[in-house]
Amino acid sequence: GVATIAAAAETFRNTVDGSELDLSKAQAGEKPDAVETFEQTGKNPLNGDEGSIEKGKEEFLVACAGCHGHHAKGKLGPSLIDDYWTYPANAEDKGLFSTIFGGARAQMGPHYMSMTKTEMLETMAFLRDIYEGKASKAEWLDLEGKKALIKERKRDQSEGEGDA
Ligand code: HEM
Ligand code: CA
Repeated sequence: GVATIAAAAETFRNTVDGSELDLSKAQAGEKPDAVETFEQTGKNPLNGDEGSIEKGKEEFLVACAGCHGHHAKGKLGPSLIDDYWTYPANAEDKGLFSTIFGGARAQMGPHYMSMTKTEMLETMAFLRDIYEGKASKAEWLDLEGKKALIKERKRDQSEGEGDA
């Protein structure tokens, strides 16, 4: 067929029933280029970006912490920073975004009407930043990213030992 930019777009699906999500239902928000890149690739370009992580932390405290706890370690809803997922697709950015956008079961409602897509990506960047699970299970990272995470943790650990 004829190659167009739109043809490369990913299909996003509801976490529970697999129905196709209509991403046009939410506003792009402040970072439309990041949203566009994400919708084309399924990879969150804001991961690792300090400014986005800071914003995402604030958004998490407003929209998510009431149920998932201030450190996202779980309360009414499950921990979002370990490597166990009820829905394994959440270990990838595409799945995590789809759960935030379209919701899951029980009190985990959709957020497309209350958050912009930029805010969702920032919240995701925050959650990935505070991840405590195994690097090998961080499916949103490629092999290089997993190796970098292992290195970073070793460095933090040896710095910690130095302080003690
Ligand atoms: C499940 C994220 C807001 C209650 C989940 C899951 C994710 C998530 C990723 C699936 C976890 C897994 O697969 O193990 C978020 C984020 C939020 C948010 C980022 C804010 C934007 C809320 C709020 C509530 C809530 C406000 C309560 C009113 C729950 C519950 C589940 C859940 C009960 C389990 C649902 C199921 O297993 O189907 N959340 N959540 N969440 N969340 Fe949230
Ligand atoms: Ca978990």
